[in-house]
Amino acid sequence: LDPAVRRRLAAFGCADADELRVGGLPVRALAERFGTPLYLFDHGLLQARAAAVIDALGPDVRVLYSLKANPSLAVTRSLRHAGLGAEVASLGELELALAAGHDPAAVRFAGPGKTDAEIGAALARGLGCFHAESASEVEAIAAAARGAGRRAGVAVRVNSPRAAAGSRLRMAGVGARFGVDGAQVPPLLAAIAQRPELQLRGLHVYAGSQCFDAAAFLAQARDLVRFADECERDLGLALPELDLGGGFGEATFVLDPEFDLAAAGAGVRALVAAHARQGRVFLLELGRYLTAPMGVYLARVVRSKTAGDRVQLALDGGLHHCALAAGIGGMLRRPPLLVHATALRRPATVVTAVGGPLCTPLDQFADSVLLPPCREGDLIAVLAAGAYGLSYSPHGFLSHPTPAEVLVHEGAARIVRARGAPADVLRGQSP
Ligand SMILES: Cc1ncc(COP(=O)(O)O)c(C=O)c1O
Repeated sequence: LDPAVRRRLAAFGCADADELRVGGLPVRALAERFGTPLYLFDHGLLQARAAAVIDALGPDVRVLYSLKANPSLAVTRSLRHAGLGAEVASLGELELALAAGHDPAAVRFAGPGKTDAEIGAALARGLGCFHAESASEVEAIAAAARGAGRRAGVAVRVNSPRAAAGSRLRMAGVGARFGVDGAQVPPLLAAIAQRPELQLRGLHVYAGSQCFDAAAFLAQARDLVRFADECERDLGLALPELDLGGGFGEATFVLDPEFDLAAAGAGVRALVAAHARQGRVFLLELGRYLTAPMGVYLARVVRSKTAGDRVQLALDGGLHHCALAAGIGGMLRRPPLLVHATALRRPATVVTAVGGPLCTPLDQFADSVLLPPCREGDLIAVLAAGAYGLSYSPHGFLSHPTPAEVLVHEGAARIVRARGAPADVLRGQSP
């Protein structure tokens, strides 16, 4: 077994078991009860990961949950209970954060391309702080604040020149769509500070996602703090909030490494200790690292056949629910963390291709992996599937119903997102 698969199985308490369990419940029974395909979320693992992150980073860092990783109300609520704040990137995510009980004044709204209407609507909902990505966006926020007769909090997202070496998905560097180029930041901060309708909150950096290199993450965090100190000194203004970004990687495909949380935590603690001052707040924002480990995507083998030199499995789920596992958005195609969910200890002897029901070659989790023999009716599980799952997938393609999402908490399983139905395809349409 791949080391990342081994780690995930151990976390589910199945290191020596033959059948995968989620939150202590065997997946065969869960599949019988809720049907397949199915997302399963382990509440205990979600809480454990949140606690590990808070513990590693220390009490002087506020961790925000980036809702884009898993826009589940149950997950968002659970992470709020664990003490995390919220970072949103759309009005829909803002609604979700509020429904999960977040105080709108403490929510951050990030992302390029926020429209004037969205900015106005977010202010009307009481949003506390925009992470602005351009001078033009700052103008739009100011106009909306004047119109609403209130002050809007603004932090500026800095385009890190380091482009997050170490991140698989880069969101910075020369010509990036994200953030404001360093040279343009000081005049923008000065302009914000002069506007009575704006409250300058600080700086934000987010250079990339799936970062497995703690040293690279720390380098860009240090850059931001140094830059903030320079701006404060040169401009004579205060930048009370510094959002150091995040993007900690979580193994999703075979041969993926493990992110060194202890090293990142020690580095952040040292940085914060060296630059702490009265009224200064340090933030970090994470999605995948928090939610990926607790999730499993479970699908049933519908058909099995021999095709050339391998066995071809067609599942009842695939790309349309779990696009990440099919390699969408990745540079290199590698198999996700796949297991035969009721034969974990049986020797993997069969060269197997695993695909879904969609009429596209993209609907393939693996072209050629070794699995124990699989029969029609067996269950295949994708591990580390709790982030960028359903919401990241083209679930409109071929109009299959969306899967149910089930949360297992203290030995009890409940549906937290209802399964779709074939007739959903007609919703909102007229002839
Ligand atoms: C600004 C911002 N913050 C946070 C995240 C969350 O990233 P991850 O899920 O990798 O932690 C993203 C991801 O795209 C992002 O763009």
